[in-house]
Order: sequence, then structure tokens, then C-alpha cells
Amino acid sequence: MSTSRKLSLPLILGVLAACQAPSGALRVGPILPASNGGVVSVEPLASVIGARVLADGGSAVDAAVATAFALAVTWPEAGNLGGGGFMLVRPARGAAAFIDYRETAPLRAQPEMFLGEGGAVDPAGVRLGFLPVGVPGTVAGLFLAHQEYGRLPWSELVLPAARLAEQGFEVGAPLAASMARHAKELSLCDQAARVFLDGEGRPLQAGERLRQPDLARSLRLIAEQGPAAFYRGEIAERIVADSDRRGGILAREDFERYRAVLRKPLEGEYRGVKILAGPPPTSGGAVLIESLNQLESFDLSALEAGSAEELHLLVEAQRRSFLDRALSLGDPEFVSNPLDRLLDKRYAAELARGIDLERATSSDQLAGDLDGTLPHAESEQTTHFSVVDRDGNAVANTYTLEESWGAKTMAAGTGILLNNEMHDFNVTPGVSDRKGRIGTEPNRIRPGKRMLSSMCPVILTRQGRLLLVAGSPGGRTIPSTVLRVVTGVIDHDLPLRDAVALPRVHHGLYPDVVSVEAGVPERAVAGLLDRGHELRAIASQGDCHAIGLNPETGQLQAVADRRISGGAAAPR
Ligand code: DON
Repeated sequence: MSTSRKLSLPLILGVLAACQAPSGALRVGPILPASNGGVVSVEPLASVIGARVLADGGSAVDAAVATAFALAVTWPEAGNLGGGGFMLVRPARGAAAFIDYRETAPLRAQPEMFLGEGGAVDPAGVRLGFLPVGVPGTVAGLFLAHQEYGRLPWSELVLPAARLAEQGFEVGAPLAASMARHAKELSLCDQAARVFLDGEGRPLQAGERLRQPDLARSLRLIAEQGPAAFYRGEIAERIVADSDRRGGILAREDFERYRAVLRKPLEGEYRGVKILAGPPPTSGGAVLIESLNQLESFDLSALEAGSAEELHLLVEAQRRSFLDRALSLGDPEFVSNPLDRLLDKRYAAELARGIDLERATSSDQLAGDLDGTLPHAESEQTTHFSVVDRDGNAVANTYTLEESWGAKTMAAGTGILLNNEMHDFNVTPGVSDRKGRIGTEPNRIRPGKRMLSSMCPVILTRQGRLLLVAGSPGGRTIPSTVLRVVTGVIDHDLPLRDAVALPRVHHGLYPDVVSVEAGVPERAVAGLLDRGHELRAIASQGDCHAIGLNPETGQLQAVADRRISGGAAAPR
């Protein structure tokens, strides 16, 4: 396993003390049995907080809520109160549900709001400060999840995060590296700089203590007053006041009107396995299921996992699904997403017939006059965690600030980093190109609209039994990452740790390039080049913290992705 893991004993004992857990009650590590339940996330302290909730008799959703609040403290580049996301819940009994807590465009937003002189997007304006901030959904979403599925009192799920923010925790190497990467932009906001940088603008180093007193206070307000504190009370007031001062368009009414929405998950079936995934406003579930449906036309199990023959099929299926994404998907309150057609098996078979086993399809030929996609460079930062409890209830949660550390902006006195999710809309209406801008209608900015996402929390079952809980960060690469893990488990029958470890590829239609993760064997690279693909080498794609059935023991197992120092925690 990765040598970068920072599960030092003092660290774990520290957090066990912070969340008042007897250290004997939990196991902590990169791979753990989860038959008594478990949590696996990008950051071990947050997983411990979630697992403590499980040990105290909380449901998987209780643990997910506590983990999400904890990640807002311990993994501030993506864990959040000021962003949004999706929680997929599969109760052991009863119907599955999808909690959509995606951000919305403020009421004063306009389709061309990010265009400057000559119709060009101002690159800083769409990323930094208050203008790209969508109305945050996380607090409403977690509260809705708790109302529907919670067992323990709300405040008990929020307070461990508040205590951790107050007392502080030792910064680990991954967080220190992330702070260092983003220190310059964080220094543009006094409030953020005060928390994450020292007086000279130097980011905190590994081993130093990160205390977040303003965030602790916000968390305490949310623990006591619920979402009213965030959407109607002091927190909304502070965010709107700063937004007004600093060129934003957020209004009190945006916060008052924000609602998380309970939706029916998308359902697919792949070689007898039931796939539960997210419907719009994420495209993740549709892209994943449409890709899997195409792959059903081929016997993947007869091909070596990671061979050129196999990767070529994954890439071609992704390419076709991403075209449909660009053409048709958007917020269901604004767009009638043609899901019946896109997820139809006959349609997929027709697409699959267009795949040449020996040649890459040209995206230009496929797309005709669609003018392109991939609006901006993909960063990795969003975060996914998976939870099961001892009764078999399962939660897959992916949430985000969009880029790492969001808009690098914090409203005074809140300690809450704000998202730059407006960046996920098609910000150049009518303009698309091969480099990757996209201006198609379904995902244009409208007041109150949710921007299209690629996040893809999934839960798979075989004959009613839980098989896999998974998801990943990575912008548009997300469904491609999940596709790799799912096909690893189903087609190649790999143990979860090996399916998670498989090197990943991604194709998003435009640019017409396959990104190839380090670790893809050279002969596969040569085979893809032979087929006419253009390739781009990348160090790493996504991080999938998953729970799945261990074929060796028949028990559930939690697996942290080796690409980052994530960690699992589970009641003994
Ligand atoms: O919702 C989405 O699909 C993106 N905002 C997720 C962002 C992410 O994974 C990091 N990089 N772009």
C-alpha cells in the first residue's frame, strides 16, 4: 500500500480522544473488514468520527452526516459546508433515495455573467471571489438525509466536527501539500489566509496544528439551530454581507429559497448486477449506465483488465456517453432529460455497433456539428466517502467545492470556504470548440438552476445483496473512474482493492484525447496508439474510497484508494 499514509498512533489516539471514543472500540486502517459497518473517506480522522457514530448505534446516514461535517474541518480543500453534493442511500429494507443538495445559481445570475470584453470568459472571475459562488446546499442536504434516515440526535452528529475545529488537529502531509499548492490564491482572501497561512503568508506545515475557531462557531450554531442558522440566520447574513462588499450577487432570498431535493435514483442493470446511481442534475449516473450498457455488447471478462483491447472499449463507450451528456443533460427543473432513451439497452446496442474494435472513432465524426466540450482543466478536488452500518444500510456520498478550496473565499466570521460551482455551467453560451469549451443550451446559467455535475456516487447489489458502494472526485473523469472500478469488480471478478488499484483511463469526447493514468502497461499504451488514439499521460485519476463484498470471506470490506492517504474506520 501507499507509503504516504499518515495513520500514526498518536494521531489516531488524538482523534479518538477528540471524539470521545475509547480507542479499543474501533479499527482504523487502509483496508478493513466492515461486517459491523464502516466508513472510508479521504481523511482518516473524519472516518473515525463517522465510525464512532456507528459504534454508538447510529445509522449509516447518521455516520455519513457526521463524516461530512468532519471532512469540512479536516479536509477543507473539498469537505465543506459552503458547497454541495449528492448522497445516495440504500436502506437494507425499502426504496433507495438520492438526496440532491447541489448548489443553485443565485437569482441575480445571468447566462453571460462571466463574459468580459469581446465575449471571453474572465478566468479569475469564474474561479475566485464571490461571483462564482453557487447557493450552498450541503447543510440542507445533510439535514434532509438526517430527517429521512437519522437515528441519533442531529447535534450529536455535528458537535464532534465542532470540537475538532475548536481543539485543532495535526495537519497531515496531504493537507499540507494541498495548502502549499493553493497558498497564493488563499492569500487573496484575508479570512482564509488567517486560518490556513501564517503572518508571512506561509501555509501550515505537516505536523502543525490547524485550529478553526470561526468554523467551530458556525458548526455549533448549526448543531443548535439546524439549517435555519445557515439559511435564515447569522451565517447567511454574514455571507451575503461579504458578497455584497466583494462583488458577488448572492442575496438573502437565495438562501431562504434553497431546498435540498429527494429524488429517485437512476437504476441500471449490468450483467445481472443492479446499479443505483445519481439522476440529473448530475450526469454521472447517466454516463456510467449508458457506458455499461454499451459494454454489455462485448465480453469484457474474456479480455485482460487493462489491456489495449479492453481499455479501447471503455474509452469508446465513454466517448459516446459524453456526447449525449453534452447534448442533453441539465437540471431536471429546467430541462427534460431524455433518460428513457439514453438508458435504453437497445440504444446502447446500437451505439456499440458503431465501435470499431481496431480503430478509435473520431469525436468530430461522432459529434457532427456539436461544437465540443471540456470547458476547463479538470482538477481532482471533490471528495467521496462510503458508509455501511451493521444492518446493511449503505450510503455513497460525493460532495464538492468544485475546485480545491472552492473560490478560495470565506465570509468574515464564518470559517466557511465557499464553492466556485458556477464554473460547472456552460459559461460561454453558444460557443463550443475542440479545445473544450461547451456552450450547449441544457446547462446554461439560469437563476435558481442547478449546474450539471459529473459526480457519481453508486451502490451495486447482486440478488439483493450489497456488492459495492463507490464514487470518486475528478470532475468529468468521475464516471470514467467509477466505470473502471465497477468493471473491475463485475467483469474481472477482482477483489475490491485490486479493482480500485487498476490504472484508469478517461475520454470526455473533447478534447479528442485519452488520458492515461500512470500504471497502464506499456503494451496497452502501444495498442491504444495503434488504434489511432491520441494519449495524454497523467499521474493520477480520482480517488475511490469504496466498500464492497470481499469474495474471499463473503464479508463487506472497506478499501481506501491507495492514490491518496485515505483511511477506513470500523466498529470492532
Ligand atoms: O460537480 C462536478 O462534477 C464537479 N464540480 C466536481 C469537481 C471535481 O471533482 C473537481 N474538479 N473539477
